[in-house]
Amino acid sequence: MSTKGRELNIAVLPGDGIGPEIVEQALNVTKAVCEKFGHTLTYEYGIVGACAIDSLGEPYPQKTHDLCMKSDAVLFGAIGDPKYDNNPAAKVRPEQGLLKMRKDLGLYANIRPVTTFPSLIHKSPLRADLVEGADFMCIRELTGGMYFGRPQGRAEDGNTAYDTCIYTREEIERILHLAYKYAGQRNKKVTVVDKANVLATSRLWRQIAQEIAPQYPDVETEYMFVDNAAMRIIQWPKSFDVLVTENLFGDILTDEASVITGSLGMLPSASVGIHTSVFEPIHGSYPQAAGKNIANPLATILSAALMFEYAFGMMKEGALIREAVAASMSAGIVTEDIANNGPAYKTTDVGEWIVNYISK
Ligand code: IPM
Ligand code: MN
Repeated sequence: MSTKGRELNIAVLPGDGIGPEIVEQALNVTKAVCEKFGHTLTYEYGIVGACAIDSLGEPYPQKTHDLCMKSDAVLFGAIGDPKYDNNPAAKVRPEQGLLKMRKDLGLYANIRPVTTFPSLIHKSPLRADLVEGADFMCIRELTGGMYFGRPQGRAEDGNTAYDTCIYTREEIERILHLAYKYAGQRNKKVTVVDKANVLATSRLWRQIAQEIAPQYPDVETEYMFVDNAAMRIIQWPKSFDVLVTENLFGDILTDEASVITGSLGMLPSASVGIHTSVFEPIHGSYPQAAGKNIANPLATILSAALMFEYAFGMMKEGALIREAVAASMSAGIVTEDIANNGPAYKTTDVGEWIVNYISK
């Protein structure tokens, strides 16, 4: 236990769909950890996504941005609503809120750790011997590339559309340095994923990686085309340590990587950069399950663990959350998506069990 508690001030952004339910559990877990370690927690709610469009007409209101800026960390749920997905003509979309938040907070790195849980291996679509012990970190560039490149749009006749992929040296350098830093603390291997055989931006990535690699002599560097990486992630997931890549490739590869662990409902993420860091599950707002108390809160609870570690440097606090999550799974106190021949518990049951474990 820490001898001296600290004051932690967080913004809570539940978002849409199952967001409010899973964030409530992660917040309860955060409170329990603060109580246990003698920290004082203050928090304030903000709106983002479809619910923000409905009430204020914009998906990332200035008020929410101000709240994030003055907080030490942001705990985020999920955004998205089917009423926008099925309307390609919608002028404002919930996803724009997420992109604006990333850009305005300068969150250029999205860290998605991919780890396996022994009690979940049976849920993996891959053979157990391939996934058992897989443990790697995907670092996705988050504020550049095709997501933000301009021009983007349609030609006047409406029949031609374009996106622009742009990367600057500065954007590439800072994310590569981050990847090397983490690899140095892990198993000392960086895989730079690109499409340098086709794309100019990828060739700049590779050139800069070749310049930076010698600065980290104890870390091995591997270069891999993104199509090959997609294959290797399912063929030999244990061969990765830190995988670093541009925004769009990272979006796609991390969804792929998440399912090899057994459930998309398990993977947390940390988005870090210039201003306040954001911690959120990698899954979406799962609108079909909203309000039913059945969604898996573990990815969000594990995101709270990352918040203690990355935003506050509190390793014991993070480790206790992880231990509690593993214990809940071993005890079979899990939601329907990962239940194995046992009963399926409710979102709130899982959260309460974990809070009790932490508080005991
Ligand atoms: C993610 C999501 C977002 C993305 C969407 C919701 C805009 O898929 O965080 O991976 O594409 O970045
Ligand atoms: Mn995605």
